[in-house]
Amino acid sequence: KILILDFGSQFTQLIARRVRELNIYCEIHPFNKVPEVDESVKGIILSGSPYSVRQDDAPHFEFIKHHTTLPILGVCYGAQYMAHFHGGEVLASSTREYGRANLDYIKPHNVLFKDVPAGSQVWMSHGDTIARIADDFEIIASTDSVKVAAYQITGTKTYGIQFHPEVTHSIDGKQLLQNFLVDICGCSQDWTPDSFIETTIAELKAKLGDDKVVLGLSGGVDSSVAAVLLHQAIGKNLHCIFVDNGLLRKDEYQSVLDSYQHMGLNIKGIDAKQRFYDALAGISDPEKKRKAIGRVFIEVFDDAAHEVQGVSWLGQGTIYPDVIESVSVKGPSATIKSHHNVGGLPDFMKLKVVEPLNTLFKDEVRRVGKALGIDPNILGRHPFPGPGLAIRILGDVTPEKVDILQQADAIYINNLRSGGVYDKVWQAGAIYLPVQSVGVMGDERTYENVICLRAVESLDGMTADWCHLPYDLLAKISNEIINNVKGINRVVYDISSKPPATIEWE
Ligand code: XMP
Repeated sequence: KILILDFGSQFTQLIARRVRELNIYCEIHPFNKVPEVDESVKGIILSGSPYSVRQDDAPHFEFIKHHTTLPILGVCYGAQYMAHFHGGEVLASSTREYGRANLDYIKPHNVLFKDVPAGSQVWMSHGDTIARIADDFEIIASTDSVKVAAYQITGTKTYGIQFHPEVTHSIDGKQLLQNFLVDICGCSQDWTPDSFIETTIAELKAKLGDDKVVLGLSGGVDSSVAAVLLHQAIGKNLHCIFVDNGLLRKDEYQSVLDSYQHMGLNIKGIDAKQRFYDALAGISDPEKKRKAIGRVFIEVFDDAAHEVQGVSWLGQGTIYPDVIESVSVKGPSATIKSHHNVGGLPDFMKLKVVEPLNTLFKDEVRRVGKALGIDPNILGRHPFPGPGLAIRILGDVTPEKVDILQQADAIYINNLRSGGVYDKVWQAGAIYLPVQSVGVMGDERTYENVICLRAVESLDGMTADWCHLPYDLLAKISNEIINNVKGINRVVYDISSKPPATIEWE
């Protein structure tokens, strides 16, 4: 495996994904918590950072300890760091170097640049520049404004590059990473969905033996893939629980339950709609709604789990981005919404936790799910928040409002599918606004509620842009909703991006 040491760059996870796209396993660790470097580690990548090496509080890492034994690739800050603390000098660059540049000079026959043509476009993003390097450093690539665009410490496998090979604007970035990982570190490219499945199932078998595991399914990608992996490892000893909280999409509970049963999972469905509606009655505050839903979910789940005799493990679909320890960069980011996640947190149940997907990124979970033969309908679906439609009904939640929203949402989503745009949208949903407006239907004046349509493009939900859906499609959806959903006489489309808006309205 490869260790990626994180110095707080926004691109660190992208480096990891690129490494894994080459079918090589890697782990991200904070620069100040480097794990034991044993034989399984074939090389180290140092990430970029929002810090400058010239700052007093700049993050430090003793690279010298490793650089004679292991290949090291420093990217941006990582490159500056090694240059600065190894006899060179890093200065603020006179102009901020940001954006595209070309490698006008590449040292011939250097392994790191194998099959990277001269002139290759790279992506720069830095405010500092390496002004001077020590005598045992050699420049191996330059752009017209950045002389030390890449260096090698002579006679070692330690390299520094000033540009970002992980972003797609660095045209040959993937080739460069492959050169480092395969030719220099000697990694073999055999970490594939199939090999992951094989080793994970073997590990789960060894870890769980004849123990019983209880797992909450949500209908989402992660819990479904986790369940199928566990099922293949321990069969009927996996007890799945699927709770109908009355806040799912229209007919979703039944259809998802059917496909889980079809997959052979040992699953118990629980109709707990009323308990959730009772708990939500009269609550309008979004965070209070989330808390009420979280509390009832745990109660319902706990009751159901207690019916499984002798269960000792709780299975969860936690994925890698949830467990990567982040390097805190200048102040904690404020909690904007508490993201209660279905399937989480009943720690009073005193169960040991098993999380078969906690080394995978979301796209890898999908690939593993595909290799496991899971229904593409489950793998390809949009993310859906744990509190469900409760946070898409502004203000208090009643079964009647849920019913109206479910109808409108179903019309919306079905049209996205039949219009061929569902897969191009990252997430979509209808929102019920507690606003009444005047309309006219036939000869009658109406005074009814408003449905807002939301559709966004995003990579990870952290930032998002609203989708430019075709007008004709919007017109069709609006007509269908107003003509078919009683209580709605107006449909609007949300054209806000995140930030400053959020994806959900609550
Ligand atoms: P926001 O509204 O914060 O949403 O831009 C970002 C992503 O998170 C989802 N979301 C939630 N997911 N529990 C969840 O499991 C929650 O309470 C919650 N709130 C928002 C939202 O659907 C989007 O994908």
